[in-house]
Amino acid sequence: KRDSRFAELSADDVSHFKSLLGAESAVVDGVTADATDDIEPFNSDWMRKYRGHTRLVLKPQTTEEVSKVLKYCNERRLAVVPQGGNTGLVGGSVPVFDEIVINMSRMNNIHSFDQASGVLVADAGVILEVADQYLAQHDHLFPLDLGAKGSCHIGGNVSTNAGGLRLLRYGSLHGSVLGLEAVLPDGTIVDALSTLRKNNTGYDLKQLFIGAEGTIGLITAVSIQCPPRPKAVNVAYFGLESFEQVQQAYLQAKGQLSEILSAFELMDGRSQRLVHESTGNKYPLEGEHPFYCLVETSGSNAEHDMAKLESFLEHVMGEGIVADGVLAQDETQFRSLWRWREGITEALSHLGGTYKYDVSIPLPELYQLVEDCKERLVQKGFVGDDDSFPVRAVVGYGHMGDSNLHLNVSVRQYDKEVEKAIEPWVYEWIQKRQGSISAEHGLGIAKREFIGYSQNETMVKLMKQLKDLYDPKSIMNPYKFIK
Ligand code: FAD
Ligand code: MLT
Ligand code: ZN
Repeated sequence: KRDSRFAELSADDVSHFKSLLGAESAVVDGVTADATDDIEPFNSDWMRKYRGHTRLVLKPQTTEEVSKVLKYCNERRLAVVPQGGNTGLVGGSVPVFDEIVINMSRMNNIHSFDQASGVLVADAGVILEVADQYLAQHDHLFPLDLGAKGSCHIGGNVSTNAGGLRLLRYGSLHGSVLGLEAVLPDGTIVDALSTLRKNNTGYDLKQLFIGAEGTIGLITAVSIQCPPRPKAVNVAYFGLESFEQVQQAYLQAKGQLSEILSAFELMDGRSQRLVHESTGNKYPLEGEHPFYCLVETSGSNAEHDMAKLESFLEHVMGEGIVADGVLAQDETQFRSLWRWREGITEALSHLGGTYKYDVSIPLPELYQLVEDCKERLVQKGFVGDDDSFPVRAVVGYGHMGDSNLHLNVSVRQYDKEVEKAIEPWVYEWIQKRQGSISAEHGLGIAKREFIGYSQNETMVKLMKQLKDLYDPKSIMNPYKFIK
């Protein structure tokens, strides 16, 4: 239900925002007669699962503009949703009712890059891939990579504390983000845009904004530590017969590839079949396997890396840990092998609806959740080959190196009965193993009722106190995981 404490947008508000930002920075629909721009893309999420009803999208260009907009919204008690590239997977970036969308796409300047320290300072609205391409020109790399890189913003990445494909090598954004600038709902500009690696002067307040999903303030700029771009990168793609062998392969990869290991990703057979069906691409290996892994190495010396990789391959194939494998021979093959992993999310999106569960589980039990979920849905009569069964596929993939599984249940269309069969069962399963119900995507609206499965009462209470302190009028991204 819409919170009646929030004001409703008026024609006067719209004129005020237009005078603040300029008419071209506002997308308006249905408030005044003069404009009916296409507001739909800002109202619906990447999965087309969540849809809001905003009538105003604002696209500020400077931190001062963000400050003025938020101050006004706070005074009028107009609720807002910060929006980056709108690629989030938990419905956090779109309004629930009529909240004003503050879209960051126009704040897209790179401020500076220091070659010696590797520190990049950039606006929140810079697209991740654009930042990485800029860094490539300076022989550096953005320490985060993910399938949505062509659309997501670095401010969105920081706001969700995105994990992605190379966390195992470059660590979490809680470590690589050195500073940020944010605007609080009352318009206060928090200038914590430090470029220092070390700074132990009191509470590290920037950490609160990392992963806050836009609930306490709006991030306007980020300073981030970037590693040198590796000169030699290789990728191998394996087929394996059991999850036990996947674990052995991972253990061997850590031990033998050690400092050059940059990704270890897991894909089950069903996920690869989906990518095959959606792209029409020829499988990288002959025959089908229940599990696949993608192993990437990144280093500074191609010969040294190749020697390590070859002896690793010899070992895992010789010992029968890996049933079959292929090593990318060139850049084209490197990219096409990665597509078998990165393309799963999109392949799923073509099928209909997807119930997505992004969880952390102790490694030995990582895949058991997929088996148990499948069995449960089969028992309930939801899985079958023809159109009369609601479930099309139960799929598992994820970041093996981070103990992060993505369990996805693909359905012909969203179905309350199927949802009830999975939730809260899946969260209870996770809780029993002291796992996390959100490893990297956040809680948004999709998981808002379930925080208690991963955080105790005291933690939730402390979060609520922080929320009230930073956002006493609750205008920042309401109706999501924290009210
Ligand atoms: P949005 O979707 O626009 O917003 C996400 C949240 O952050 C919302 O709550 C929003 O209100 C808030 N927000 C956005 N910008 C700001 C800001 N400047 N200040 C304050 N709050 C803000 N995630 C992973 O962790 N790992 C992956 O491997 C991964 N792969 C993905 C692959 C695909 C194909 C897709 C579609 C998504 C994937 N994601 C992954 C989800 C991930 O959360 C996002 O892609 C990304 O981090 C979100 O960035 P965005 O700019 O699109 O943010
Ligand atoms: C991934 O690892 O592919 C992303 O987190 C997206 C997803 O879970 O589908
Ligand atoms: Zn992921």
